[in-house]
Amino acid sequence: MKITKAIIPAAGLGTRVLPASKAVPKEMLNIVDKPAIQYLVEEAAASGITDILIITNRGKNVIEDHFDYAFELEANLKGKKGKESLYESVRKSAQLANVYFLRQKETKGLGHAVLTAKTFVGNDPFAILYGDDIIINNDYPVTKQLIDVFDKYGKCVTGVKECTKEQVMKYCSLDVTPIENNVMRCNRIIEKPNENEIYSMYATLGRNVLTPEVFDFIEKTEPSPKTGEIYLTDALNMLASEGNLFALDFVGRRYDMGDKLGILQANCEVALSHPEIGESFKNYLKELVKTF
Ligand code: UTP
Repeated sequence: MKITKAIIPAAGLGTRVLPASKAVPKEMLNIVDKPAIQYLVEEAAASGITDILIITNRGKNVIEDHFDYAFELEANLKGKKGKESLYESVRKSAQLANVYFLRQKETKGLGHAVLTAKTFVGNDPFAILYGDDIIINNDYPVTKQLIDVFDKYGKCVTGVKECTKEQVMKYCSLDVTPIENNVMRCNRIIEKPNENEIYSMYATLGRNVLTPEVFDFIEKTEPSPKTGEIYLTDALNMLASEGNLFALDFVGRRYDMGDKLGILQANCEVALSHPEIGESFKNYLKELVKTF
């Protein structure tokens, strides 16, 4: 079955990037010349997704505006000499896919955010792209990489990378058995493990392709006694225990837009390969390093 739906949970509080995210959602922080969330919508569209539900909360209305037409601005740019590409770029964000919005009324964790999408998803398999995880692979988008594994094996797929011990303890850890190339079976997965609970250095980083069965598992998931959040990882662990979760060590550069260093890395690397400013930015950096 062709996967055409995706959800982007973007209702987190963004505390790690305060005060930048106080009035501007972290998903709207820019990477060179586009807000982070546009990279996600572009990745989904390039992976064959036609319908995207973005899960927001109070104070994130600007995300809706970004994927809408901006009549005044467009009227101002349209037909003006030298402004054609600006006009096109402003129009483009409203035409990438059918984008829908839903509010997570309480910030009760990623699992809870995903559960709000149950009606939107219906009976179809779907993709999840975490609102603050930007993964760049212009030739083979990461969501498409996961969809291809789902199509080949008929199992849910979580996108993973090997991480540092500190990251694994902050994210999650997977117990895996190799299948072929960069595909593995996931036997167990644990959220925010203590040092002695780490299964491997593989952690889920921002992408999943799942079946609607996951909603039954989220509904059975108790909030974490430590944080009070409902973890998606707990529901993924239930899928794993049924033999229905694979892991893909995806190919792509991943940036954590919920983290100060991640934001700078994303901007720096995207700027270096940007057609308009790449060369001059490279020269600027070369001069800059001489002064340190
Ligand atoms: P994070 O834990 O990275 O986001 O969640 P956060 O809560 O914004 O981060 P900090 O710790 O406060 O800085 C991963 C993804 O899940 C979404 C976030 O928006 C992010 O894209 N999320 C998280 C929700 O949509 N709802 C939630 O209740 C929690």
